[in-house]
Amino acid sequence: MSDDDEGVKAFGASFQGFLRNMANQSPTEEPPVVRWVREHLGVDPAELVVVSATFPPHDVPNLQRALDGWADEPGRSLEVRGLRQGQAHFHSPSLSQLLSTQAGGLMGGGPTELGPASYEDRVLQDDTVLSCLSLGLLRLVDGDVRAIAYVHKGISFGDAEQASVALEVLAVDVDASRAVLADLRARIRRDNVYRGQVISISTSEHFGKVKVEFHRVPKVSRGDIVLPVGLLDRIERHTTAFARHRERLRAAGQHLKRGVLLHGPPGTGKTLSVRYLVSEMPDRTVLVLSGSGLSNLAATCQLARLLAPSTVLIEDVDLIAKSREVNEGANPILFELLNQMDGLDQDADVLFLLTTNRFQVLEEALSSRPGRVDVSIEVPLPDEAARRALIALYGRELDLPGAALDGIVRRTEGVSAAFLRELVRKAALRAAEQETPDAQGRLAVSAQDLDGALRDMLSGGKVARAIVGFRQAEDEVG
Ligand SMILES: Nc1ncnc2c1ncn2[C@@H]1O[C@H](COP(=O)(O)OP(=O)(O)O)[C@@H](O)[C@H]1O
Ligand SMILES: [Mg+2]
Repeated sequence: MSDDDEGVKAFGASFQGFLRNMANQSPTEEPPVVRWVREHLGVDPAELVVVSATFPPHDVPNLQRALDGWADEPGRSLEVRGLRQGQAHFHSPSLSQLLSTQAGGLMGGGPTELGPASYEDRVLQDDTVLSCLSLGLLRLVDGDVRAIAYVHKGISFGDAEQASVALEVLAVDVDASRAVLADLRARIRRDNVYRGQVISISTSEHFGKVKVEFHRVPKVSRGDIVLPVGLLDRIERHTTAFARHRERLRAAGQHLKRGVLLHGPPGTGKTLSVRYLVSEMPDRTVLVLSGSGLSNLAATCQLARLLAPSTVLIEDVDLIAKSREVNEGANPILFELLNQMDGLDQDADVLFLLTTNRFQVLEEALSSRPGRVDVSIEVPLPDEAARRALIALYGRELDLPGAALDGIVRRTEGVSAAFLRELVRKAALRAAEQETPDAQGRLAVSAQDLDGALRDMLSGGKVARAIVGFRQAEDEVG
């Protein structure tokens, strides 16, 4: 240890002694915050050890819930005070700074007084709002044990410099402080506001403010999906069935983390299938990653593990891979994703569900890093039987011309499922326009309506055809 360090240490010790003397000699000048703490703990806080933790910003509502839950246990109570500082600080003082501040003291911002606690509202699922303590001191009572907790904004200098929430705990016995922290952490895990929800985490450009959004995924059932025979079973085997047999598989030493990629042309039902899978696994937490949320990849994967069983959903993963212009071939963002997938503990029940319209873009990256995606399943354009079934599905409330459908089915070789849905809709519109005002019963769609609708959809040239999902060469269209 250098002389300088010794000097600093000695100064620190004598300064602490000085503070203590000040407090002893002129108790009337003890800062109100220090008195509030001392009276609760029954001892001079300067002699105690502070235990602290920081939480990521998305845990603000979880910490609030944990504190509320902690205090709800029998024999426990909680009293909150805010702090009124002489001047606003971007960084709030730590607890030890707060407690060693004499009037006009260390922070240079004038004395810190007790005042109203600061709360900020967080919007949770179904637009419920939770007011969360953002700056405040708490007196905790647990039977005979007394502790002080201090909630404030910490700053963590991790991968992205992000505002976080800091919690410091002070008790006569340091083990009591640790127990309070451990209890709160367990509650954050167990009573997490995101558990079982569909959420996405994004960071705004300004001040790196983290936003967690709750999404509502439309319910899709098996009957809403038309795929080649056996394909949906195959998708289910790697997703819902895996989840159903989780315990058995885990006990049999099988790892639970898995990656499933659905690929195929646009409008063939990848997103629809994803929605179906989400509907089928309502207890899993779903973390949606999109282009803008990709900076939160690490945080999202961490949350996925904490909240397992969970699903990390990345739709149109090729777009993410291409979202920032990078030199051909190398794809740092995609590789980062694959690394995160790889980094997760094998035993974590986390399903990565990816979709893409452009498999070729991913092929190289995936084959150079095997094991990240366990299965890739092609969702193809509908064959003849599927096209017939799709027209029937989307026309189930219509009166369709039975025999004339054969021609339409034949002439729509190469179109997507989404195309057929639009075709039926356009034909229904034509039918409705020709009806008499007093028409009743099912809307009758004629062969001419379907024919007109098909011509309509094909009339816009190549680009229009591509948009509506038509893959067939022009001269094949009858
Ligand atoms: N296999 C399918 N079965 C039934 N409807 C489908 C199918 N594929 C697409 N559709 C219809 O087209 C819409 C768009 O399909 P989507 O699943 O979003 O396509 P993508 O494969 O590009 O994700 C769906 O919401 C649905 O109405
Ligand atoms: Mg899609």
